[in-house]
Amino acid sequence: MNQRNTFISGMVAITFLIISCSKFEPEAPDDDNILDGPVSGLTYEQNRQFLAGDIAFNNEIFTPATGLGPIFVATSCGSCHAGDGKGTPFTTLVRFGQTDSTGNKYLHLGGPQLQNRAIPGFQTEVLPNGATSSKFTPPANTGLGFLELVSDEDILSMSDPEDSNGDGISGVPSLDIYRNS
Ligand code: HEC
Repeated sequence: MNQRNTFISGMVAITFLIISCSKFEPEAPDDDNILDGPVSGLTYEQNRQFLAGDIAFNNEIFTPATGLGPIFVATSCGSCHAGDGKGTPFTTLVRFGQTDSTGNKYLHLGGPQLQNRAIPGFQTEVLPNGATSSKFTPPANTGLGFLELVSDEDILSMSDPEDSNGDGISGVPSLDIYRNS
């Protein structure tokens, strides 16, 4: 076989491989079934705003000219919430200085969020001596509009902290009183 024939039979084999693999792939969900789309029932103007925000979330890279700095953590939303999704151990952010509900004692030293990067000519923040700190992993941002549509009354009516109905689910509404305790 000359080189050209080898190339052609290679391409044919790859094509067959792709066709047979695609049989095992799940089908793409319908547009109204994906969590990162807009909720239904938006007006034209609301849809336009949704799309503009969705695009900016991933594509807008902040620079000093558009207000970045002097200290900062990242240059775009999507760099932490990649593809609107959950972050990784490499895209965490650090908050420091608060251990209980009495408040943050390090606000004058840059708390609560550590800004570990800086534009040229500026110093990054560093963790103050003695300050406690925690790393936070970015959560997925998809579906938040759908959650927003669930009313507070509905959430509270399903509250079941002690699992008294025995269905194995102990729903605890995320209220500020729980966060601070
Ligand atoms: C450095 C990484 C990082 C960047 C950049 C970032 N986020 Fe986040 N984001 C986080 C982390 C970590 C949390 C969770 C914080 C917490 O638990 O208190 C979060 C939480 C959120 C939440 C709350 C999600 C929920 O389920 O309650 C929203 C909404 C959000 N971010 C939007 C944005 C937007 C919009 C931008 C860009 C302007 C952005 N994020 C940039 C790390 C980041």
